[in-house]
Parts: sequence; structure tokens; C-alpha cells
Amino acid sequence: MNRRTFLGALGALALSRLGWSKPPAPLYLPEGPLAGGYPYELPPLPYPYEALEPHIDTQTMKVHHQGHHAGYVSTLNKALADLPAFQQMPLEELLANLEKVPAAQRTTIRNHGGGHWNHSFFWPLLTPKPQEPSLELQKRLSAEFGSWAAFRGQLLDTALRLFGSGWTWLIKLPSGRLQIITTPNQDNPLMPYAEVRGTPVLGLDVWEHAYYLKHQNRRIEYLSALWNVINWQRVEALLG
Ligand SMILES: [Fe+2]
Repeated sequence: MNRRTFLGALGALALSRLGWSKPPAPLYLPEGPLAGGYPYELPPLPYPYEALEPHIDTQTMKVHHQGHHAGYVSTLNKALADLPAFQQMPLEELLANLEKVPAAQRTTIRNHGGGHWNHSFFWPLLTPKPQEPSLELQKRLSAEFGSWAAFRGQLLDTALRLFGSGWTWLIKLPSGRLQIITTPNQDNPLMPYAEVRGTPVLGLDVWEHAYYLKHQNRRIEYLSALWNVINWQRVEALLG
């Protein structure tokens, strides 16, 4: 039994004891549960803070990782401190079953557990070595959205139009089809609150904290820069 299978079995056992159901979508990433276990820790970035220059600036990366992401981890741990049954859950399954969390901690775990998962998912989706998507990936997305340019246009336009803070996602539905959706705040497509649930394969952080230091209110500039550092190899791996 490998680590992924073991953790999956552990999570299923814990869920069954609580009378929970496993969410329908295959939520685990290729390497298994993404965000570690309780007590959660801030994962290191897979590249130096300055590595995404000139597309994403060093100061933004430091504040985003050491400030915002670290804060989500710390508050999530505090919220889970008195909930031992929930500490055992892989974070993906905790977020997928938020309605089972006691009301007193639910919003905190939704916001900060979501914040920890979303950012842990986001960092490896960026790469300091800009890369072209493979022809196979381009074909797959063109088949869904009409063309590669149409996919890019729909993704960035959806992110641009998202009101307030949140995320824009490319998700894989249980049918295997792909869809672009948004979630507010630190919600994500794993949660029962998402309009459409599915497996995230790409997530764009559209909070102002991701770009305001450099781009102020010019979200379109940030999105154009972000597009240059998307790790298409990882997107392709997550698509399966
Ligand atoms: Fe963020």
C-alpha cells in the first residue's frame, strides 16, 4: 500500500466512523493529499521568492506566502485544536464535508482551511521556467473551449470579471468534461458551497493581495503576467 492509498484508506475509515460520505469527484492530486496533516505547516515554495520575476515580483511573493498563506495555516490549526475527529481528515475531505463541522468553527475552517489548500495548490502551478503547453494539452482544451485562444480568453475574462476576492478555476467534472468556474473568498470547487463541484486542475488567485503591491487596481496586468508563468506540465498531469 503506497502513501496515497494508505492516506486514502485512513480518510475513508475516519469518514465512515463519522457517518460521512466520500465526495464523488477524485479529489486527490497525483501525489496524494496536498496540504499535509494536522498540525498543518506552511509548505515551502517550490522556487525562490524572486524566481517569478519579472512576471510576479519578489515582494508580493514574500507577503503572499509568509504573510497571507502562513496566516491561513495558523488560524486553521487554532480552529481544529479542539476538534480531534476532524484533525484526522485529509484537508480535501474536511473541505468537502464542511457542513458536518460544528457551526462554531465552520466559517473559520472554510476560510482558512480553504486558504491553506488553495495556496498549497497554487504555488506549484507557477513556474520560473515559462513553458508552452504541449500540443496534446492544447488539443484537449481546444476541444472543450473551441480553441486555445478561446480557452485563454474565457479563463482570463472570467478572472477579470470576478467581483471582489476569490479564485478562478479550471475544473474536471465527474463526466471528464472541463469547466471554468469562480468561487468567492477562499472557497474552492471541493466545497459543498461551490456552484459546480469538481477536481481543480488550475486555480488563479484573484485576491488583491496577489497583485496590489505591483499592479494596484490593474487586475488585467496581473492576469497577463500570471499567464506567462503557468506550469502547463502540472496542469496536464492533474488533468490525467
Ligand atoms: Fe492569495
